Amino acid sequence: MNAIKIIQVSDLHLVMPGGALQGSDPLLRLEDCIADLNRHHGDADLVVFSGDLTDDGEPGAYAALATRLAALEAPYRLMMGNHDQRAAFAATFPDAAGADGFVQAAVDLGGWTAVLLDTHEPGHVEGRLCETRLGWLDGALVGAGNALIFLHHPPAAIGIPSLDGSRLAEPEGLAAVLRRHGNVRHLFAGHVHRRASGAWHGIPFATVRSTNHQSALAFSGPHRVSFEPPAYAVILAGEEGIVVHEQEFPCRQRGPFPGR
Ligand SMILES: [Fe+2]
Ligand SMILES: [Fe+2]
Repeated sequence: MNAIKIIQVSDLHLVMPGGALQGSDPLLRLEDCIADLNRHHGDADLVVFSGDLTDDGEPGAYAALATRLAALEAPYRLMMGNHDQRAAFAATFPDAAGADGFVQAAVDLGGWTAVLLDTHEPGHVEGRLCETRLGWLDGALVGAGNALIFLHHPPAAIGIPSLDGSRLAEPEGLAAVLRRHGNVRHLFAGHVHRRASGAWHGIPFATVRSTNHQSALAFSGPHRVSFEPPAYAVILAGEEGIVVHEQEFPCRQRGPFPGR
């Protein structure tokens, strides 16, 4: 089994070039993130962009993403989030979707398989995995060795009510597939714009910060944005197990970060 390094970058929320979101320029943040990845993680086996690539699905935002990705040295894969728009995404990245129209992939990394799921459901903030997508996963896990699953919406509740309401809907369907195979070693999600980790049905999971804006740790009340610095995850998997690091990266538009 190879020792591998996967980078997870999430929730870019790109708007049209020059635009701002929550007080920062998401495109500048992406550029800073890619520069940091090239500086420190050009050896990564895979960089996974786990959805909410854009804030509103504008074709110009996807076009900006495509040009910035051309500078990324490591191989990468893109995923869909609830803020994305399937048609606009496909117009810019026509090879990303499978024959069934969903943006899912199984990437063989030598003893490890990164399985990327598509939880985007038009018109819904929460995530969905329909029978078609779960059926694909069922097939992908056969002979996958040690599987690492990436999906935009966490299936697990993280104790923040304003976010838990929009996690993966009907997660028991996913749990049943995972139970059937028993070879999924870790789940990785985005969507919540903050780092959380734990176990779900006995399988470890982790979420990661956004490259743009974060969620406050609010155990009650409405959702609150926080201005903690952006970060990506560095996932190391090898013979003895898996470790997940959270790594902040330098930003030209640094702040001040007002804090929480
Ligand atoms: Fe997001
Ligand atoms: Fe999201």
